[in-house]
Amino acid sequence: MFDKKVKKTITSVLFVCLGNICRSPTAEAIFRHKALHAGMSIEIDSAGTLGAHIGSPPDKRSRAVGEERGYSFKKIKCRKVDLSDFEHFDYIVAMDKQNLQNLLEICPEEHQHKVALMMSFCSSQEDEVPDPYYGGKRGFEYVLDLIEQASDGLLEQIKQRFA
Ligand code: 4NP
Repeated sequence: MFDKKVKKTITSVLFVCLGNICRSPTAEAIFRHKALHAGMSIEIDSAGTLGAHIGSPPDKRSRAVGEERGYSFKKIKCRKVDLSDFEHFDYIVAMDKQNLQNLLEICPEEHQHKVALMMSFCSSQEDEVPDPYYGGKRGFEYVLDLIEQASDGLLEQIKQRFA
């Protein structure tokens, strides 16, 4: 018999936006990179509330600006939020208020405390990560700027909670 190595994660985070092709996969890629560099084993995933792009890779504009900053989008595929996510994940992080509301409408009462806005993890003049889908490259870069900032705050909170 051989030993099955089970990697123990300290916590789990699900990032959520509308399409799961721009903002939340960007958050998944950035947060995975930062957690890895901080030596923290965190389960990280992303999903959308819309479900119109299921199975698609992240938007090529998100990939292009993210890869320029060294983030990897390998193996990320669009999926829709599932009811089981509310039980499974410790943090369910919405990119904007509309998606926060969409999540709270379907989240069972006992898991509502897990649902939060991404920009609540840092101090910024923005309280949402704006949808870049219909805009230009600058919008995609701004999404990166905001998510990098908020990811640092979330990682710090997780570090303190599990120290
Ligand atoms: P995301 O951006 O929510 O950041 O992935 C969008 C992607 C696709 C659509 C809307 C927003 N869409 O309507 O197809």
